[in-house]
Amino acid sequence: MSAARQVVQRILAGREFQANGTAKAYAPANIALVKYWGKRDEALNLPVTGSLSISLGPLGSHVELARAESAGDRVWLNGQPLPADSSFARRASAFLDLFRPAKDFGFALKARNTVPTAAGFASSASGFAALAKAADGLFGWGLAARELSILARLGSGSAARSLADGFVEWQAGTAADGLDSFAERLDAEWPELRVGAVVLCSDEKPVGSREGMKRSVETCEFYREWPGRVARDLAALKTAIAKKNFAALGEVAEGNALAMHALMAATLPPIVYALPETVAAMRTIWTAREAGLALWFTMDAGPNVKLLFEAKDESRVREIFPAVEVVAPFG
Ligand code: DP6
Repeated sequence: MSAARQVVQRILAGREFQANGTAKAYAPANIALVKYWGKRDEALNLPVTGSLSISLGPLGSHVELARAESAGDRVWLNGQPLPADSSFARRASAFLDLFRPAKDFGFALKARNTVPTAAGFASSASGFAALAKAADGLFGWGLAARELSILARLGSGSAARSLADGFVEWQAGTAADGLDSFAERLDAEWPELRVGAVVLCSDEKPVGSREGMKRSVETCEFYREWPGRVARDLAALKTAIAKKNFAALGEVAEGNALAMHALMAATLPPIVYALPETVAAMRTIWTAREAGLALWFTMDAGPNVKLLFEAKDESRVREIFPAVEVVAPFG
């Protein structure tokens, strides 16, 4: 039995696998302000370090999950039936295997993303989180948020952070089975905070996060500096959030993203996600900041930048980046 399936059995020990009707669930996408880059266990998506994200409120994944009439999963994405060998259907089925009560038990899964696919926000985190919630609803397990976070993590690491709204911290944990590696919401509100997606290129990325972080852990000689950096950034970010110090939040988030991209660049073979347009956007942000605008950015495993600013500056930000898609994480 796979390591992930063993963990699921431990979490679900004593619970029934009786499917009931159709379960619906929603989970928000999230963007990390202090990043997850590197695993200590690939089978269980256990991270080397903690990370801290902001959930994106209405941008996320809705799923409906039921028992299919026959064996084999049926998967729909945004209203379209998908072939079983499509990458989305295969990833979903592999995750559902963790909860499949019997080989001939097929799932009917309807997923709908409100994350605009072209906006450069990943929908895999919200997708796995919503799927974990829907499985919990379908079988009536009544799992706690921590347990759902662990289950979602087995689909994709960053999904551990998509079970809650607001600021969410994922604890790296130390246990081999990862039962102490889950994410929880921080007790903080920041209604003025805005996240803006600037899409510079929506082509498929050359190296996915999974492969990229594995390569960094194995070959980047600065990787050993990363856990210390993350620990300092997590502490500074939590202080910034507690004090609602926006400049401090922006500085930590931007610095942490650039440090992650430096690790990527020092990986062998090198991974550089930035395009000329990405560098131009960074320079535009720095110039605006020198002129007094409180604008910072973060970026993930891709060429697009996500802006961080406060509501009062939205019109100035829109003047600089007219195509920006703005999200208010606290509604
Ligand atoms: C750069 O969660 O997609 O977005 O665990 O292999 O599924 P897997 O990786 P994934 O990696 C996300 C990496 C990141 C940083 C972050 O979200 O913290």
